[in-house]
Amino acid sequence: MDKTSKMQDKHLTGTLVLSVFTAVLGFFQYGYSLGVINAPQKVIEAHYRRVLGIAPMDRSAINFSEADEGTAFPGIEATDIVTSTASAHNTLTMYWSLSVSTFAIGGMISSFTVGWIGDKLGRVKAMLAVNVLSIIGSLLMGLAKFGPSHILIITGRAITGLYCGLSSGLVPMYVGEVSPTALRGALGTLHQLAIVTGILISQILGLDFLLGNDDMWPLLLSLSGGAAVLQFFLLLLCPESPRYLYIKLGKVEEAKKSLRRLRGNYDPMKEIAEMEKEKQEAASEKRVSIKKLFASSSYRQPILVALMVQVSQQFSGINAIFYYSTNIFERAGVQQPVYATIGVGVVNTVFTVISVFLVEKAGRRSLFIAGLIGMLGSAILMTVGLELLGRFAWMSYVSMAAIFLFVIFFEVGPGPIPWFIVAELFSQGPRPAAIAMAGFCNWTCNFIIGMCFQYIADLCGSYAFVIFAALLLGFVVFAIFKVPETKGKSFEEISAEFRRKRRSAMKGPKAATELEDLRGTEEA
Ligand code: GLC
Repeated sequence: MDKTSKMQDKHLTGTLVLSVFTAVLGFFQYGYSLGVINAPQKVIEAHYRRVLGIAPMDRSAINFSEADEGTAFPGIEATDIVTSTASAHNTLTMYWSLSVSTFAIGGMISSFTVGWIGDKLGRVKAMLAVNVLSIIGSLLMGLAKFGPSHILIITGRAITGLYCGLSSGLVPMYVGEVSPTALRGALGTLHQLAIVTGILISQILGLDFLLGNDDMWPLLLSLSGGAAVLQFFLLLLCPESPRYLYIKLGKVEEAKKSLRRLRGNYDPMKEIAEMEKEKQEAASEKRVSIKKLFASSSYRQPILVALMVQVSQQFSGINAIFYYSTNIFERAGVQQPVYATIGVGVVNTVFTVISVFLVEKAGRRSLFIAGLIGMLGSAILMTVGLELLGRFAWMSYVSMAAIFLFVIFFEVGPGPIPWFIVAELFSQGPRPAAIAMAGFCNWTCNFIIGMCFQYIADLCGSYAFVIFAALLLGFVVFAIFKVPETKGKSFEEISAEFRRKRRSAMKGPKAATELEDLRGTEEA
């Protein structure tokens, strides 16, 4: 490739920047909603108690003078308060857990429909339409104090989750399709950057002297709706994905127009030719359903890789840190755990920025593997630190350093890469179904960690991260043997590589029948 065309390939136009920025606002909301529920837990729980007429279990937490005046829990006598039952406490725990987890359940459900809606409406219109969900979710949470708060928050979080599930598929699909090959990795890491920025901002705004207090928490919960409104209007200025226009709708002229807007003043024919190749391949593959994705042996390797990178991302244990960091820091003997948590958010953001630059230099595969190995080492260090804390006070620094390192290594590879590599592993035909499955897998694993980590921590104490260390070891081995390098390759080249690998693997007795099957898929 000559120098000018290389430069053109890396050229960032205003429209490309605007389109990618607008799309990843969806991921910003995802990060915000993920992080926002952590800090205001105590104030919102106190509000739930008032609404549900549940008194605190802990006698020392009761303000008896207020209770005697009947102002602490209107309509409840002081004697009723002290006879508060364990079942009332369980009710509160249940409502709180639902407030946290319905978000992930919403995401799990809607991620299934990504392929369908993205193909039906087109990428841009689909993103526009699903924004309505985010706005409704935010309104419900923002108005929580005017009705049955727990119901409004649980419903609001579920609807926001529905939005985020759709967005976590539509955004990578769109960004992958509008980015030039040479910038696909760097622009792909912006998903993660948007998530971590969302988490960080929600952590900061959640401080009690800002919005994490009794007066302001409804605003805190509903602020992600602001990003939805912004995204809604900006989307009106974004061009539709040229790949969708050309391959899916066969609108050649519109695809060229969109390419010219995205790439600036250059000849779109090279990319059109690339799309034509993809189109022919998509035509030979027909429309690929989720069922076919698993049934056909030609997709077995890429879908295995696509799902395993999601499992690795979530079961690495990263969200054990993001959901429970304050708690972990407390155990590690840190004086001001809330600020340490914000420190994690800052480090997380800084290293995501660094990985934006690394990913087009070092390649996805090596960064993914290096990140997993680093996390494995950090998880072991964290365990040693927490275990020896009782004997040496300075071990609290070791544990803290280990937590920071864990996050840093995550952002080097296992954090950002799964979000965009799935779009790279598949050509146009199976891409929507693959993205839907990968999203579903990611959300399910996220939900499992959110629900189970507290129990694991209670059960295993300082050894909780040993489980993640063992899993990480397994992921490293898998990545070494199975994850291919996708850097700098066209979508067509990547799927051709999988085909080549399959052919060379088929030297055994099954070769003849499997080759028949492969030919069948290719010729269909
Ligand atoms: C990734 C994960 C998300 C996690 C975040 C932390 O985006 O998908 O679950 O919270 O990284 O930075």
